[in-house]
Amino acid sequence: MTDYETILVETRGRVGWITLNRPDALNALNTQVCREVVAAASAFDSDAGIGAIVVTGSERAFAAGADIKEMESKTGLDMLLGDHFGGWTQFAAVRTPVIAAVAGYALGGGCELAMMCDIILAADTAKFGQPEITLGVIPGMGGSQRLVRAVGYYKAADLILTGRMMDAAEAERSGLASRVVPAADLLAEAQKTAEAIAAKGLPALYAAKAVLDGALESSLAEGLRLEKHVFASLFDTEDQKEGMAAFREKRTPDFRGR
Ligand code: CAA
Repeated sequence: MTDYETILVETRGRVGWITLNRPDALNALNTQVCREVVAAASAFDSDAGIGAIVVTGSERAFAAGADIKEMESKTGLDMLLGDHFGGWTQFAAVRTPVIAAVAGYALGGGCELAMMCDIILAADTAKFGQPEITLGVIPGMGGSQRLVRAVGYYKAADLILTGRMMDAAEAERSGLASRVVPAADLLAEAQKTAEAIAAKGLPALYAAKAVLDGALESSLAEGLRLEKHVFASLFDTEDQKEGMAAFREKRTPDFRGR
């Protein structure tokens, strides 16, 4: 496997793990981290042996944001011409379901990275926030758009305008955290959830992710049209025949991913 310097990558069964590993900078997301996370996620995404990806950090920090020291001296034109956060778009576009397993700080770009994932599993130590306003800027990796969709306008505005952090319980109440678990159980729970997903058929998983994305990006009518066609297309897969036969025969389905 490729050598990475800022992340650790491993495979556990059908689950691909990406662990952010810049402990001295609380996993701040610089361009190298972005390049490596995108490369690792893309490799998992093109591997039929992988049915789910987990992205995690350390006990202290999932990620404390984009790397402030890397950005400090840049001009507006530098940010635009270099498309500073553009690489993350590729991460957000992976077909495979992605779980963010968040302990400690998930701030700025860290919160935005979690929101590019499909499920946010939060340790009870997690702290989420978009503190960019305290640096004289605003969220730049999608936070202003994804946070509003996740928690609604008023909670998002409260977080983005004050820069305050919210704890795991508030994040779960607000709909940002899918679930909160004790910190000691976070990684085991992430693996268990990822295994439950990875045991399903890949065509149905990709289809589910595509229609979920559609719900965020289109009108209700367009989203329902998309769902109708994607739903119907799954009836041409072997996995659909297997899944429904297994139900009738009262056994566990053996999905083949086709
Ligand atoms: N970028 C670069 N370095 C960072 C960093 C970041 N986002 N966050 C933390 N670090 C570094 C610190 O500079 C420090 O390094 P040194 O030891 O070399 O000084 C090290 O990580 C440990 O951090 P602290 O000593 O500050 O740790 P703490 O426990 O006292 O505080 C914290 C923790 C509250 C998370 C604090 O580090 C902090 O406020 N970090 C910045 C959070 C932030 O503003 N994030 C948004 C960044 S901008 C952004 O993300 C834009 C976007 O939308 C994409």
